[in-house]
Amino acid sequence: MTDKPTALPARAHFSSGPCAKRPGWAPENLAIESLGRSHRSKLGKARLKLAIDLTREILNVPSTHRIGIVPASDTGAYEMAMWTMLGARGVTALAWESFGEGWVTDAVKQLKLEPKVHRADYGQLPDLSKVDFTDDVLFTWNGTTSGVRVPDGEWIAADREGLSFADATSAVFAYDIPWDKIDVATFSWQKVLGGEGAHGVLILGPRAVERLESYTPSWPLPKVFRLVSKGKLAEGVFKGETINTPSMLAVEDAIFALEWAKSIGGLEGLKARCTANADALDKIVAERDWLGHLAVDKGIRSKTSVCLTVEGADADFIKKFAGLLEKEGAAYDIAGYRDAPAGLRVWCGATVDTADIEALGPWLDWAYATLKA
Ligand SMILES: Cc1ncc(COP(=O)(O)O)c(C=O)c1O
Repeated sequence: MTDKPTALPARAHFSSGPCAKRPGWAPENLAIESLGRSHRSKLGKARLKLAIDLTREILNVPSTHRIGIVPASDTGAYEMAMWTMLGARGVTALAWESFGEGWVTDAVKQLKLEPKVHRADYGQLPDLSKVDFTDDVLFTWNGTTSGVRVPDGEWIAADREGLSFADATSAVFAYDIPWDKIDVATFSWQKVLGGEGAHGVLILGPRAVERLESYTPSWPLPKVFRLVSKGKLAEGVFKGETINTPSMLAVEDAIFALEWAKSIGGLEGLKARCTANADALDKIVAERDWLGHLAVDKGIRSKTSVCLTVEGADADFIKKFAGLLEKEGAAYDIAGYRDAPAGLRVWCGATVDTADIEALGPWLDWAYATLKA
């Protein structure tokens, strides 16, 4: 029988969203002067703009691309892009896990489009060389539910005629994103920044803006999706004049996370923390023959949402496994996503401390042995 470990991770927060708060997070550390004020006051707009400016600085987003804060988390931002820009030309969609599959479903069932779909099983990527960039192309940079990511942006055509739409929610702040290959990118603060849900961030390149100003979809658009007014881009959205009322508490929380990101060296500092976490988890996997990676190929394996296979485990075993560790305060929310093959998922993004990943190893052994006994 494996003895119960004595040392708990200091922060057992390994959820893949909402993810662990940044080190040093406490509610009393948030700036609250903008709360209880109009988001259109001088102060409110300045705080929203600061969140945008810090995002640009840390992600190295060039001045060619606009950054806006929009409603409804990453889903809101991605749907807004789909609903406002698709339909002008053919659509290709890539799906290798649950969220990519969700965008396909919306393109087909809601927008009544007929996308060419390139699929792959959980743990794999479709053949990216087959993607036709005369189409608009929908894809997920990091598939959070399978732990598979695109290796880089090399496969995205520089001379593409269509637009590239990247759901980058569990990728930004963890990988380099080649912005010249991105026409639309979306993310939510709740992932790699350890921020809150509620708002999405929408990044638009010049060709996306051109599409918005030259094309009107045949379907109606709710007010929260409208980015164009009298044929022109609503530029205010990209300066902090949000479409509707944001949560200033969520905005302050995002600023607090972005300031931390800046203090540790920006994107390079975040990437280094994330890589150290993924390496520490990889070591745990390598040392145990009953644990494996769902994404076998390291070149496409996520460094944020790392998905693990557990020998002989079914959904019920995983539920008990994760429940046992949660009860001990050793690991929260590490059961794989409900649609994914039964397994574990450990968030390795920058807000997690490497020592906590390391402390997880003995607990995994203990849970496995306890359930097998
Ligand atoms: C790849 C991907 N896309 C979309 C979403 C939905 O994000 P949100 O709940 O922030 O809208 C998630 C959430 O886990 C995700 O991982």
